[in-house]
Amino acid sequence: MKTLLLLPGDGIGPEIIAEAARVIDRLRADAGLELVTETALFGGCAYEAEGLPLSDDTLARARAADAVLMGAVGGPQWAGVAYDKRPEAGLLRLRAELDVFTNLRPAYCYPALADASTLKREVIEGLDMMIVRELTGGVYFGKPRGIETLENGERRGVNTHVYTSSEITRVARIAFAIARERKGVLWSAEKANVMEAGLLWREEVTRLGAEAYPEVALHHILADNCAMQLVKNPKQFDVILTDNLFGDILSDIMAMLTGSLGMLPSAALGEEGTPGIYEPIHGSAPDIAGQGIANPCAAILSLAMALRLQLGRPDCAERIERAIGQALADGYRTPDLLAGEGCTRVGTTGMGEAILERL
Ligand code: NAD
Ligand code: IPM
Ligand code: MN
Repeated sequence: MKTLLLLPGDGIGPEIIAEAARVIDRLRADAGLELVTETALFGGCAYEAEGLPLSDDTLARARAADAVLMGAVGGPQWAGVAYDKRPEAGLLRLRAELDVFTNLRPAYCYPALADASTLKREVIEGLDMMIVRELTGGVYFGKPRGIETLENGERRGVNTHVYTSSEITRVARIAFAIARERKGVLWSAEKANVMEAGLLWREEVTRLGAEAYPEVALHHILADNCAMQLVKNPKQFDVILTDNLFGDILSDIMAMLTGSLGMLPSAALGEEGTPGIYEPIHGSAPDIAGQGIANPCAAILSLAMALRLQLGRPDCAERIERAIGQALADGYRTPDLLAGEGCTRVGTTGMGEAILERL
């Protein structure tokens, strides 16, 4: 029996994870899904209750689980909290402790949503791509970091962008392997023109490609140009490999190619046999939290990724993805999705219901 630890978190997190939980219940009932689910506090709510965004107990339960499904953490109410106790710091610690160095962020434009983006239909129709984001290194974790007061009274904020060759090659291996399975083309994005760590990235990826993946066509692109190209002509890409910070930014851009940030799932993976963290790429959406209007698709699609990649039920994953495609094709739209004529406006549970009916 596999175990999935649910970390609903803050803001819209609990609202969207509740819909994922309903999908799990349904699959238990009619697909023979054998899955134990547990729930723990994580993020701002954990800080309120336990004084820390990630307690040792929650971390131990995450380690013991087969996979973790997370909602989102953070919000303006914790803006004044010490940096290392903020909800986001809890997420970074969880990623580091579980050593989930590879973050798969797929973007798929459902046919029904080809008109839902602010971009033109022809630019995004048929889009199906993947960003492979390095997740446990770079400027998010480099030392030194902090804010100090200088002798002259000025304050100085420091973060360090740093990568070792092994940190680069272990995630690059995964990206090459994925590219080989897909179209045989890999784009690697960095800023080798201004950053030494970017140059190292380029050199290591080039070396690995030549040594181990000669059949994959490797292209390098500067991350700023990559951002522009993603908006101009995203379908020129299939798999993009990039670092932690650029991957964060490029994947939010990529979200708009699918119609909404509320559509993008992700999987954070470590070494074989260790639990992955599955989460929507969006945040806690404080501006709409508590209103029952958040799009649960990214959370439910994250569950599908967990079922496929780690919980041994790719058939259930496929059912979920098809049900979501059908609910969208039948016109169900949460407010973040542009709704054309004949569409049905629904909230979070309404969308969850529409998906369940089609499961
Ligand atoms: P956000 O992703 O929470 O929201 C950006 C915009 O997208 C908002 O207008 C929001 O309403 C909308 N949106 C996001 N998800 C949606 C959904 N499922 N359905 C409909 N609309 C959706 O980003 P933000 O506002 O910059 O950040 C808010 C907080 O979330 C911050 O504290 C940030 O650190 C945190 N955050 C957490 C995660 C995570 O837990 N993985 C990811 C990103 C941001
Ligand atoms: C994401 C988020 C996180 C990140 C934050 C909340 C730490 O934006 O998962 O995309 O920057 O990695
Ligand atoms: Mn992000």
